[in-house]
Amino acid sequence: MKFIIGNWKMYPSSLKEAKFIFGGIKKVARGVTRAKVVLCVPALFVAPLVVLGGKSKMSVGGQNCHKDDEGARTGEISSRALKSTGATYVILGHSERRAMGETNADIAEKTVGALRNKLITILCVGEKERDEHGGYFTEVSNQLRASLALFPRNASKQLIVAYEPIWAIGSSAKRVATPADFREMSILIRRYLAEHFGKKAAFAIPVLYGGSVDDLNAEGFLREAEADGFLIGRVSLNPEKFGEVIRLANSVKPR
Ligand code: 13P
Repeated sequence: MKFIIGNWKMYPSSLKEAKFIFGGIKKVARGVTRAKVVLCVPALFVAPLVVLGGKSKMSVGGQNCHKDDEGARTGEISSRALKSTGATYVILGHSERRAMGETNADIAEKTVGALRNKLITILCVGEKERDEHGGYFTEVSNQLRASLALFPRNASKQLIVAYEPIWAIGSSAKRVATPADFREMSILIRRYLAEHFGKKAAFAIPVLYGGSVDDLNAEGFLREAEADGFLIGRVSLNPEKFGEVIRLANSVKPR
């Protein structure tokens, strides 16, 4: 099964538009059997979009959560509250949240809350820059080690890892990463996951690519680099292009 996950970030700015985009993607996702479609949307939109999803196989997720289930934490959203609105996934450790000061230790605590409330964690890792000496391997290994420090060895089915090289994300990206860039890093990620969860469990954990993925470059990552799917920003708000990525993923033989 390939995972095609949309990260809507802080878009769109109205529920009406959110429903329109969601409806467009739902149409494409109909009849798709080899790709799991998940939309991680602004928290306010989770409940209405879960209702709109109805019996479709699409899932809805959040983009962050607090480690605690409740408390005097003005403006925060707990994983328990997310779950109660129908979310089944949560993105943790996105680079945009790390840039706001979130540490690996914070992320580790959040994974515990997500697990407690039966949300599947989509853990984001990725280096800021690529240096000539391979320092980025250490950066990503350290993120994995510290963010998964509290993640139980027997809970691997509750985890998805998304590799998002920061230099390849967003409209100011320096260049797009290549399937070879992803392949190399996915080997390192899986090696680390094997140390933590054991070889067999690690093999089953989806390792996704995220960073300026669109309908034109998706196929290379799926076929050449055997990505288990994608975490997609901008293009996930465009039902036509996102739909094309879903169709492509549905046409590729599972690993
Ligand atoms: P883009 O797909 O817009 O580059 O964003 C990537 C990302 O941050 C997804 O989480």
